[in-house]
Amino acid sequence: MNAKIIGTGFYLPERILTNADLEKMVDTSDEWITRRVGIKERHIARDDEYASDMACIAASKAIKNSGLLPSDIDLVLCSTISAEMITPTVSCIVQKKLELVNSAAMDVNSACTGFVSSLIVAQQFIKSGTYKNVLIIGTDTLSKYTDYTDRSSCILFGDGAGAAVLTASEKGGVIGFEMGSDGSGGKHISIPNFKYTEEDIERRGGEKKRTFWMDGSEVFKFAVRIMAESSKRIVENAGFSIDEVDMIIPHQANVRIVDGAAKRLGIPKEKVFTNVERTGNMSSASVAVALAECVEKGLIKEGDKVVLVGFGGGLTWGSVLIEM
Ligand code: UT7
Repeated sequence: MNAKIIGTGFYLPERILTNADLEKMVDTSDEWITRRVGIKERHIARDDEYASDMACIAASKAIKNSGLLPSDIDLVLCSTISAEMITPTVSCIVQKKLELVNSAAMDVNSACTGFVSSLIVAQQFIKSGTYKNVLIIGTDTLSKYTDYTDRSSCILFGDGAGAAVLTASEKGGVIGFEMGSDGSGGKHISIPNFKYTEEDIERRGGEKKRTFWMDGSEVFKFAVRIMAESSKRIVENAGFSIDEVDMIIPHQANVRIVDGAAKRLGIPKEKVFTNVERTGNMSSASVAVALAECVEKGLIKEGDKVVLVGFGGGLTWGSVLIEM
């Protein structure tokens, strides 16, 4: 038995932050952001809108589209690094609000890789026969951690949530995966919680601010390399060639990262989905929303071979080959 996707859903907050808006906030330009990152606009959650609120909307759409009842869900895994509460977790809040009365719940934190990690964890429970139906969610409100005086990072992020319902299937589903981490690269992306090194304080203008910081060019190099290598490895290990893949759904951090990875893999741009121009980088929601949009737009259909690939803070990465 493998985990097969039977329903997806997503949610993007109403408020939109454009490059023109950012031009009024920091020393940047639409031209620079478009050329270097490929983002035009992003959705930003209201002050009173949190990761669990967005997760509930995306998840209830995914359950509806799956044809299952909330009571059919055995496990909910929610990936987030911006939960409004440390405990109860977002997955427990979703479990309560959506009345997933028979479901266990836990959150997954592997930063932007999280939705892919959740899919891999779900596959283990389904493969072992422990659970039949698993709901996975990626939800993040990185706007709440963003330093809107730091032009190198504030242009990057948007908020959103995506979800998928997986069920045990004898045919198709997850047919290959890999996950990995390189803690030695952890210093390249950080959001402090309680502990601040001298470096963390310096990077935040001399203040103990709970804001996002990144060494963009280090992450850029890592991302292009790992997305191409990891995707190729899982496809070949499953006995296929990269040409047989119908669609790659990568983490949406920067159009140049996606293009660079596609070039390394030698696959045409049409086979690589991007929505970052409209959404910005939504951390663990990026792959989740991209998957749901692909399904909604009919870009992937029953039987297609699809690669989901993510990377992020930690450093972490993960990739999954799935037959729809
Ligand atoms: O989700 C996981 C984590 N995130 C990522 O994967 C993002 C990975 N990194 C990136 O996407 C890119 O590295 C960035 C978009 C963050 C930065 O692009 P870059 O091409 O690597 O630019 P850079 O940091 O090398 O900066 C080039 C120049 C600098 O000016 P000088 O020193 O050459 O004079 C920056 O100060 O661009 C300047 N710059 C800006 N200029 C206008 C940096 N940010 C901006 C800005 N507007 N917003």
